[in-house]
Amino acid sequence: MKINKDVFAKTKNKLLRINMIVVMCFLGMLLAFTMIYFRYITYTNIDKEIGQEFKHIITQLDNSKYEPIKLLDPKDMVYIYENGRIKYYTENDYFDKILPEKKSDTNQVFTKYRENGHYFKELNVNIGDYHIQIIRNIDSEMFSISKLISIILFLGIISLIFIYMISLYLTKKALVPIETAWKNQAKFIQDASHELRTPITIVSSKLESLLKKPDSTIGDEAETVAIAMKETRRLKKMVNDLLSLTKEDGIVQLNKEVFDLKSLIDEITEDYFDIAEYQEKEFSCDIFADKTDVYTDKNKFKQILRIFIDNAFKYTKAGDSINIVVKEDEEDDDNLIVSVNDTGIGISKEDIPNLFDRFFRSDNVRNKDIDGSGIGLSIADVTAKNIGVEIGVTSEYGEGSSFFIKIQKKH
Ligand SMILES: Nc1ncnc2c1ncn2[C@@H]1O[C@H](COP(=O)(O)OP(=O)(O)O)[C@@H](O)[C@H]1O
Ligand SMILES: [Mg+2]
Repeated sequence: MKINKDVFAKTKNKLLRINMIVVMCFLGMLLAFTMIYFRYITYTNIDKEIGQEFKHIITQLDNSKYEPIKLLDPKDMVYIYENGRIKYYTENDYFDKILPEKKSDTNQVFTKYRENGHYFKELNVNIGDYHIQIIRNIDSEMFSISKLISIILFLGIISLIFIYMISLYLTKKALVPIETAWKNQAKFIQDASHELRTPITIVSSKLESLLKKPDSTIGDEAETVAIAMKETRRLKKMVNDLLSLTKEDGIVQLNKEVFDLKSLIDEITEDYFDIAEYQEKEFSCDIFADKTDVYTDKNKFKQILRIFIDNAFKYTKAGDSINIVVKEDEEDDDNLIVSVNDTGIGISKEDIPNLFDRFFRSDNVRNKDIDGSGIGLSIADVTAKNIGVEIGVTSEYGEGSSFFIKIQKKH
């Protein structure tokens, strides 16, 4: 059956988008934090080392024997000016012969800059007549930072792809039960309207035919009126069945109690003996169990049993027999089996798997014009699941059928 697939595609995309945005924000924040933290650590470390270098140089200046100045780190370069004129500098390959200009006039400030393709960090300090400029090459640190950024970006992209695939899978999986429920619902509505259409069509055509004969009396058209009335009764029953089916399908409140199966069966079957006599059918009950106490929802159990007995009467002719049996389960002595057996039309092997489906009716039943909607057994099926009993059927086409309920004994 076709349903509007678009609804789910849209929902899927929406869910996926929300997932991805949340994950991306989170990932982005994590990566940005890592990067900022790493840069901060690296720069503060460099500044600290340059600061130490400065102190080291100062002690050598104080001792007035500043030739040659020993450096803590060979990567550092130092330029010392006295009254604006260069007094001392370390030879290096970066600022060969040319004096590097001061990047900051502010005292004791670290400046980072790029020159001739290299990165430097510089500290300028004025003390008295002296100006000390310490420069450190930070190419390797900058390289580490840029490497880290590319690794983080790479990992970020890989994890985004990975997360995208996981989200896609999860979104699909999350929507499966919803999609199934939606499909079932849509199919149910489609089937129900289809089933309701037939009686409505009959009623309206009968009414129309009455309109065409304004001079006839009601007595003349008694048959037409009777047919229309029969169809409205069918409609009413169907609507009631549909209602109880959807009720069973929704959230059900169970009302479990201990009761005696034998008395329940006596209570139900009372009404059927008259019907059996009137329809010229044989009707009997046999209890082959000593203890018949069970614990379940009595009303719902009764409903299932009624559906089975109603069907047994419906699908048998005069002269057939209907027999209700309660016996111990031979396979599990914890269970009782209640079966409704008839010698009626029986069910073909192909139909048995579909018997409990909504609106299912055997073709031979439809052709014989036996009234029904195919809802009864599906109500029995849902109800059985709700109260936790097992139901089933065995049948021989043309010979008869046997519907059973397996229920746990109450000790
Ligand atoms: N006792 C039975 N004997 C033969 N066929 C049966 C019996 N009970 C049920 N069926 C088959 O199962 C179908 C579904 O039953 P049900 O859900 O009660 O719907 P309905 O009785 O309204 O047709 C029936 O149409 C009939 O074909
Ligand atoms: Mg029925």
